[in-house]
Amino acid sequence: MKLLVGYATTEGQARKIARHVADRLSDLGHMVELLPLAEAEGLDLARFDRAILVASVHVGHYQTALAAFVVAQREALAAMPTLFLSVSLAAAGHDAADWLGLDEVLADFTEATGWTPGHVEQVAGAYAPERYDILRRFVMRRIVARKDPGADLDHGREYTDWPALDGAVDGWLEA
Ligand SMILES: Cc1cc2nc3c(=O)[nH]c(=O)nc-3n(C[C@H](O)[C@H](O)[C@H](O)COP(=O)(O)O)c2cc1C
Repeated sequence: MKLLVGYATTEGQARKIARHVADRLSDLGHMVELLPLAEAEGLDLARFDRAILVASVHVGHYQTALAAFVVAQREALAAMPTLFLSVSLAAAGHDAADWLGLDEVLADFTEATGWTPGHVEQVAGAYAPERYDILRRFVMRRIVARKDPGADLDHGREYTDWPALDGAVDGWLEA
């Protein structure tokens, strides 16, 4: 199968997730193109059998590169099997309000772009203080301290559950 893995990232975790998925699909024998969505202008999606898009949530929104790509490719995306990996810290926990918030982020995105992904997986991202400016570090320390009281706030932590991610991608491929 020929698959596109397109991603948008701010601090790098969505790129790491996209790379992991692309490497694994390639190891399984698929032909894979890994592409930052900011560089996907003019891409011919008809060359692919399926598409996986990966982006992360920042203050309730995905990156604008994702929305721009989706709006430009809306018809082609609607005509093929798609998987959207939504990366966030809310997905790292079990707080019902946080998960409702993720539903709202996704609903806002589908309404704004006119595209509904074939399948969506909420994927836990990472806390990466070394990549934040002072203001972001301050805000994120407070958020992570609330979500994960035992966390060492001076050091980054990856919450991504790699085996669960692999299982989700496998399930989508077999569907
Ligand atoms: C400034 C900022 C705002 C964020 N806002 C949210 C948010 O609204 N909801 C959420 O669940 N996670 C939020 N996060 C957590 C990110 O989604 C998480 O760190 C993710 O791994 C970032 O992915 P990236 O490295 O691909 O950019 C935020 C992170 C930062 C730095």
